[in-house]
Amino acid sequence: MLERVLSLRSRTSQVNDEEDEEDDEPKNRKNVSVAIKAAKHIARFTLLWPCLALALLLLAISLFLHYRSLICVPSIEPSYRLNLFGAVDGIDSDFGALGVPWCRSKKGLNVEWTSKDLIKGLEEFVPIYETRPIKNNVYGMGFDHSFGLWFITRWLQPDLMIESGAFKGHSTWVLRQAMPNTPILSITPRHPEKYLRKGPAYVDGNCTYFAGKDFVDFGSVNWESVLRKHGIFDRSKVLVFFDDHQNEFKRLKQALNAGFKHLVFEDNYDTGTGDHYSLRQICDQFYIRGDSLPSVHSGLSRNCLYLDSDLLAGGGHSCFQDSDEARMREKRKKFWEKAVGIDELCGEGEKWWGVQGQMRDDFNHSNKAISHAEHFTNSRFVESLLDVYWELPPVAGPSLTHQTRYDPARTSSPIVEDGRYGQFQKLGLTRLDTSVFNGYTQMVYLQISKPSS
Ligand SMILES: C[S@@+](CC[C@H](N)C(=O)[O-])C[C@H]1O[C@@H](n2cnc3c(N)ncnc32)[C@H](O)[C@@H]1O
Ligand SMILES: *[C@@H]1O[C@H](CO)[C@@H](O)[C@H](O)[C@H]1NC(C)=O
Ligand SMILES: *[C@@H]1O[C@H](CO)[C@@H](O)[C@H](O)[C@H]1NC(C)=O
Repeated sequence: MLERVLSLRSRTSQVNDEEDEEDDEPKNRKNVSVAIKAAKHIARFTLLWPCLALALLLLAISLFLHYRSLICVPSIEPSYRLNLFGAVDGIDSDFGALGVPWCRSKKGLNVEWTSKDLIKGLEEFVPIYETRPIKNNVYGMGFDHSFGLWFITRWLQPDLMIESGAFKGHSTWVLRQAMPNTPILSITPRHPEKYLRKGPAYVDGNCTYFAGKDFVDFGSVNWESVLRKHGIFDRSKVLVFFDDHQNEFKRLKQALNAGFKHLVFEDNYDTGTGDHYSLRQICDQFYIRGDSLPSVHSGLSRNCLYLDSDLLAGGGHSCFQDSDEARMREKRKKFWEKAVGIDELCGEGEKWWGVQGQMRDDFNHSNKAISHAEHFTNSRFVESLLDVYWELPPVAGPSLTHQTRYDPARTSSPIVEDGRYGQFQKLGLTRLDTSVFNGYTQMVYLQISKPSS
């Protein structure tokens, strides 16, 4: 059924985009309902003024010929249509409906880039992505995060890029595409060259690998000597990319102590999911409210309002079974792999934070139960460091990408909104295999500094 709904949607989108290619509004849904209303009016007019009928009939026929799929839509039974165009079972129209926790930054600063910059970036990145050496990067980054990492890196223009967790080297390749002449330092237990024996992998010529017998965990590196060797004296010119599935609270403190300022975390799992404690989980707190958001997002263009304050229930959860959240979660589980019901969200003793009250670490090889008070304290500490918190939006709505993994209800609005098939196609995104869109987990960019007091 999902397939059917999605394909119907993209077909109607297509029609609308041909109609108003240059129009920036995602009005697919509106246009269709206007068509339905118009059809009803046409019917009434026909009864009242028979002479007008012929002209209108001709118009209707020409409309039919042009927009056959549009006319087909009303033939669906009404309740189904409601699901299709309303927000009831919400395929894609309810981004953020279950709240999008957003860490608060110290001074309400925000990123410099706008949604226009992201669109321009996509235009450039799609052809680059098509030349990637590792086509099938299961367990590694898909398109959304590859784009995010490339975009952020290019914007920041670092003097050194450090990555922790390289796997076959896809992210190393992405960093290299963003900065062709900048040194990379890659920390990963297994050298990417080991994967070359079995298939595609990427080994960079200007990258220092802390791998194999040279592996040292990020938290144990002697940064003073390593950075001096690389001629880096200003640590604010370094970008650190984490894709190593370690407790992000731990990594954040290690990065702060090392004096780094710009961090990207690839996997920023939502509460109740994932194998390590994440920023997203840390900031999922009752006091995180929608009303703090307009300032967070000031400076972004209208199209970049990722989070409507009315949609933002904010953070925190109740384990109450008979709640709107519980009911909505139950429904959404059927559509999205990452969606969790209230039962799954809440562990014994109504522990919902982290993953059922656990602070996971190291690919879930380590687990530590934490109290709610500790979880709360963690978030206050994180806030005392944050100058910027920015979650990469998904690249495009699910009716376009056909992704089935992340739940839009817990996600900020995509860069290319549902209904903008024309834009999706123009960017070259239709050329990519749909599987590359199935890896989005709220990649986040942080700018940090020492707490002021
Ligand atoms: C999800 S993969 C990384 C995917 C990669 N960034 C990409 O784009 O395809 C996680 C990697 O982290 C590595 N890893 C495990 N423990 C680590 C540690 N303590 N520090 C750094 N990397 C670690 C794993 O060996 C694995 O290669
Ligand atoms: C490494 O970077 C330097 C400086 O940009 C460049 O001259 C050299 O060709 C690069 N080497 C490789 C193997 O890419
Ligand atoms: C994570 O670890 C816990 C504790 O060892 C275990 O109960 C749980 O099933 C694990 N979850 C996954 C997804 O592996």
